[in-house]
Amino acid sequence: MRNFEGRVAVVTGAASGIGLSVASRFAREGMRVVLADIEREALEAAVAGLEAAGHEVLGVPTDVSRWEEIQELAARTVEAFGQVNVVHNNAGVVRAGRLEELTLADWEWVLGVDLWSVIYGVKAFLPRIREAGEGHIVNTASSAGLQSSHEIGPYNVAKFGIVALTETLQLELLAGDEEIRASVLCPGAIATRITESERNRPDAATQTETNQRFQELAGGVVSRGHSPDSVADLVLRAIREQEFWILTHPKWIEVLRGRVEGMEDGRRLVTGFGG
Ligand SMILES: NC(=O)c1ccc[n+]([C@@H]2O[C@H](COP(=O)([O-])OP(=O)(O)OC[C@H]3O[C@@H](n4cnc5c(N)ncnc54)[C@H](O)[C@@H]3O)[C@@H](O)[C@H]2O)c1
Repeated sequence: MRNFEGRVAVVTGAASGIGLSVASRFAREGMRVVLADIEREALEAAVAGLEAAGHEVLGVPTDVSRWEEIQELAARTVEAFGQVNVVHNNAGVVRAGRLEELTLADWEWVLGVDLWSVIYGVKAFLPRIREAGEGHIVNTASSAGLQSSHEIGPYNVAKFGIVALTETLQLELLAGDEEIRASVLCPGAIATRITESERNRPDAATQTETNQRFQELAGGVVSRGHSPDSVADLVLRAIREQEFWILTHPKWIEVLRGRVEGMEDGRRLVTGFGG
C-alpha cells in the first residue's frame, strides 16, 4: 500500500509504547486511526493528544483477548470511518516464571492477550480489508518469536505462534490477486512499559521472585532500547515497500544463524537473552 491519505488504520495496544508511536505516525500520514487499548485513561489521553494535533481519530476501549470485543472494534471502525485498510495487532503482555512455577492463569493471560488477540484480529478484519480492496496487516511478535529465552515460556509460545500465523497469512495473500499484504514485527529491546504489563492484568497474580527479577533486569535493558518512534518508521516503510519481516535489531540475524548452526550440530541451543 503506497497511498496513506484518507485510509483507515486500527492499532491495538495504542495507548502506550510502540502502538502509540505507530498510531501517531499513521495519523501524520493522513490516515484516520482507531486506537484500541484496555487501559482507559491512557487511551483517552492518547486520543486527546492526537485530536489536539488536528488528527481524525477514535478511541475504542478493548480487551483484545476477547473475541466479542474485537468484533465490536471492527464494527465500530467501519461505522465511524466506512472502511478498514490497515490493522496493526500489537497489544501484548509478558509474565516471567520457570515452567514449573507458572500458573495456568499466567498462561491463559499471556496467550489470550498476545496470541488469541492476533488470531481474532486477522479473523475479524481480513474480510473487511478485502471489502476495501487494498490494505495491510501488521502483527507484533518479538525477537522471542524467533529464538526462545528461558523463564518467559508463554511469551515465547505466543510470539512464535504470531510469526507462524503471519507467515501463513502472507503465503495465502500472495496466492491471491488482491493488494493486501502482511508483515511481522519482531522488535528487540524498545523503550516502552512492556515490563510493567501486570498493570493491565485483570486477575490479581501473586508476585514471584522470578517475575520480579525479570521485571528489574529486562526493565533495565528495555529502558536503554530503541525508541518506539523508530519502530513506527520501520512499520510504515514495511507497509509502503511490502516488506514482510520487520526486525528492529539486525544483530538478531546473527542469533538466528547460531540457531541454524545449533540445528546442524543437533545439540546446541542458543538463548535469546543477550542477543
Ligand atoms: N518493548 C519491547 O522491548 C518489545 C520487544 C519485543 C516485542 N514487544 C511487543 O510490542 C508490543 C507492544 O508493547 P510495548 O513494548 O509498546 O509495551 P507497552 O506496555 O508500552 O504497550 C502495550 C499496550 O498494550 C495494552 N494492553 C495490554 N493488555 C491489553 C489487552 N488485554 N487489550 C488491549 N490492550 C492491552 C497496554 O495497555 C499498553 O497500552 C507487545 O506485543 C510486545 O510484546 C515489545
